[in-house]
Amino acid sequence: MNSKPASKWATNTEEDDLEIASLRKKEKEEKRRLKEERARKTAAAAAASQVHDSERPSKRQRTSEDNSDPPQDEGANLLQFQTRSFGPCGHVDQFELLNNIEEGSYGLVSRGRRKDNGQIIALKRLKMDHTNDGFPVTGLREIQTLKACKHPHVVDLFEVVMGDSLKDVYLVMDFVEHDLKTLLEDMAEPFLPSETKTLMLQIVSAIDYLHQNWILHRDLKTSNLLLNNRGEIKLADFGMARYTSHPPPKLTQLVVTLWYRAPELLLGTEEYDSEIDIWSLGCIFAELLTKEPLIQGKNEVDQLSKIFALLGTPTNETWPGFRSLPNAKALHPVLAKASVPSFLTASKFPYLTTSGLRLLSSMLSMNPGGRPSAPQILRHPYFKEDPRPKAREMFPTFPSKAGQEKRRRRATPQAPNRGDAPKLDEREFAGIFAGRADEAQGAGFSLRLG
Ligand SMILES: Nc1ncnc2c1ncn2[C@@H]1O[C@H](COP(=O)(O)OP(=O)(O)OP(=O)(O)O)[C@@H](O)[C@H]1O
Ligand SMILES: [Mg+2]
Repeated sequence: MNSKPASKWATNTEEDDLEIASLRKKEKEEKRRLKEERARKTAAAAAASQVHDSERPSKRQRTSEDNSDPPQDEGANLLQFQTRSFGPCGHVDQFELLNNIEEGSYGLVSRGRRKDNGQIIALKRLKMDHTNDGFPVTGLREIQTLKACKHPHVVDLFEVVMGDSLKDVYLVMDFVEHDLKTLLEDMAEPFLPSETKTLMLQIVSAIDYLHQNWILHRDLKTSNLLLNNRGEIKLADFGMARYTSHPPPKLTQLVVTLWYRAPELLLGTEEYDSEIDIWSLGCIFAELLTKEPLIQGKNEVDQLSKIFALLGTPTNETWPGFRSLPNAKALHPVLAKASVPSFLTASKFPYLTTSGLRLLSSMLSMNPGGRPSAPQILRHPYFKEDPRPKAREMFPTFPSKAGQEKRRRRATPQAPNRGDAPKLDEREFAGIFAGRADEAQGAGFSLRLG
């Protein structure tokens, strides 16, 4: 029963109804036709692209710059030169030199200004003295790996420019105010625990990114870690970096600055992996906590004996297989002595919690297999306990030596004017300062005020 009143619009005649029905049918048919046509076109396009794909060479050369590649998830390119992504080089005369920052083993780094827009940049002039035949491999690797990296905590390589001769090659990078080594040398006290956590989290995130992309840095140390005045770390100096693969290829052991070099490298291993970077990271962690490089050997043998003195001598249980490493035979006299226990104790790191000490000890595990991976470090409870990592915005700023900023004068009494000093007998003071000059130098660093 339909009790609803008829709609006031329901005035169509039977004829009208038939016409409307036929129109609707036509509309439906047209829609179906269009849909079928679209499906046909899509199928044809897919078939065409399959043919095209099968005709492609298996290794294509890149025709344009594309940084959107996800991290590679299997064996990496040991020699991956993206030739087409380098355009013609600019000339270094687009930059005005402001001041030299540092001459390292592989380059001279200066601060400069781009003439067209005033941007402050860092220029690293590659040293060509390491090779007689062509371009130095360190320079090639630095360009290759840095160009492939885009990460908030890896220094930005903007471009590579040339001078007048083919031997004049410069990397143009983001200018960063400090490196951690120079900064630690100038600081009266080490970083606070909350600051150390912020720095470590950033450093580890950069290392995690490299390892995920099959890159080993192989020269992690405080002078290669830059810090800007916004509390941001930028990992730099990729001269030793290279791509690796799984399983790792045979590589040279002559990598990593001595004080940060892992024991397996000192023992001559040719097969190593990301764990060597984690060892260096452990040394950096300790240095941030104490302001002093942790293990300062004079040569390879001395470095190894200092490692054993600090962490205990390895045994077959703590490091299975270490005796078969190439240089292990030379260790017999050391290993024949009674095993030394580890001195990596809380008393050495008064500001470190038990969990922090556990993390540090694991990074400095003599057996590379015992070291945590970068993602495991990032998840470590040490970073979750109090004090929490300090917010970057709250990070202290420092005058930049590289930027030629002067250190602000401390609010301490002014030096007296000449002639004001009361006449005191110098001999009375001789005893007080005896030995202090030696102590200041012997500590391995000197306070350099800008
Ligand atoms: N982008 C940058 N901004 C500011 N300063 C920088 C920059 N890059 C490097 N430096 C400074 O220059 C120093 C040397 O740079 P780098 O480590 O790249 O050269 P290197 O010759 O490979 O050094 P070494 O082999 O001695 O470690 C760094 O420790 C840092 O103080
Ligand atoms: Mg360096």
